Amino acid sequence: MVQVVSISDLSSYVDQEVSLRGWVRHHRKSGKIQFIVMRDGSGFAQVVLVKNEIDEATFDLAKTLTQESCFQVVGKVQQNPRNQRYELLVSQLTIIHIAEPFPITPKDHGTEFLMDNRHLWFRSKRQWAILRIRHRLIKSIRDFFDDRGFTNIDSPILTPTAAEGTSTLFGVDYFGEPAYLSQSGQLYLEPAVAAFGKVYCFGPTFRAEKSKTRRHLTEFWMVEPEVAFAHLEDVMVLAQEFVHYLINQVLEHHIPELEVLERDLEPLKQSLQPFIRMTYSEAVDQLKALGSDIEWGSDFGGDDETLLTQQYQQPLIVHRFPKEFKAFYMEPDPDDDRLVLGMDVLAPEGYGEVIGGGERASSIQFLLDQIAKHGLPEEPYSWYLDVRRYGSFPHAGFGLGLERAVAWICKLPHVRETIPYPRMLNRLKP
Ligand code: 4AD
Ligand code: MG
Repeated sequence: MVQVVSISDLSSYVDQEVSLRGWVRHHRKSGKIQFIVMRDGSGFAQVVLVKNEIDEATFDLAKTLTQESCFQVVGKVQQNPRNQRYELLVSQLTIIHIAEPFPITPKDHGTEFLMDNRHLWFRSKRQWAILRIRHRLIKSIRDFFDDRGFTNIDSPILTPTAAEGTSTLFGVDYFGEPAYLSQSGQLYLEPAVAAFGKVYCFGPTFRAEKSKTRRHLTEFWMVEPEVAFAHLEDVMVLAQEFVHYLINQVLEHHIPELEVLERDLEPLKQSLQPFIRMTYSEAVDQLKALGSDIEWGSDFGGDDETLLTQQYQQPLIVHRFPKEFKAFYMEPDPDDDRLVLGMDVLAPEGYGEVIGGGERASSIQFLLDQIAKHGLPEEPYSWYLDVRRYGSFPHAGFGLGLERAVAWICKLPHVRETIPYPRMLNRLKP
């Protein structure tokens, strides 16, 4: 029996007989020779059938392979002298299934058509490259926090309260009681940080955003670290180290995928510099000078973020925001009571916010006032307020949106390609 190997391992088997199993991506045939680009999930490789070197029945059988047909081959591994790639010179071929005409052909298709066929689209080389980089980021996110003594504390998805404002809640009927899909695990991490010191959660998060932008999904993945005794400065440092680590991991392991995506590596390397920092007030001044009509006291729009980040080669941390448009739980700035100690990390190349976070209020009275000001009911937050009743302590954390990080690192025009099955304002299928 010939050993079945992965395409990604072909370089270890030069001049040996191996077997590959996979699907037809592309098939080019002439009377004397056939070239099939096979994909097996681990990569893409050319398999070659030469008429004079195999029996005629096998050569003819191969001709019946259509795009996405499933097949197995045996052959000798060789390195193509022209492109240095590893390929297989076929001696035997077995058909596993002849595919019906595949809806996604090499011609151009519209985005809506591709999204309707998302379950088939991710067989494409580009989607394969993106989702492998997503996978690397997921692994690197866990490694980063696990290696630094953080404990993973999962937060629930079904929740009775709002974490990030009531306007973007998805409601569900919980046995006759109203419940919501979680917007953030943060409120659940704060009690846990008193028990474990450094914690993180990483899971799906939901926002009923009616926004149809290239940055918004209704279901996205967020990683949220939370650290006891940390202040704003500490989480700005942590966020920078974290983002640097993620970029380094992708650069170390995924150059071939970045090549598929034609990603220019230079801007990514520039992001390994220390991040630029500025206060919200400085950012508003700069935006005005650049022609934005933003007024002090209002949140940045997507265009403002784009404009601001285009001024720098590396990510930008904006900190100390007006209380008005930030979440109720933020610690007030001791030097200016109009401000809270929040921070956002904005990615360069026009991408904008990838991280939001900051220091959490540790005074119970301040939080009670904030809950009232935001028009939130007090009782459902009573357990959250317990963190301030029993040994209250300074703490801080942040949330990174995985899909926005993937979009930036892969330099994609839209977050819809960064998650296997995107959920958006107008999309719940497939
Ligand atoms: O800034 P946000 O709303 O912050 C929080 O939820 C905090 N509770 C996090 C914390 O401090 N623990 O969201 C954090 C990040 C954003 O910076 C963005 O990357 C991502 O989550 N995000 C979205 N990603 C895709 N689609 C959406 N609709 C998103 N909303 C937020
Ligand atoms: Mg935010």
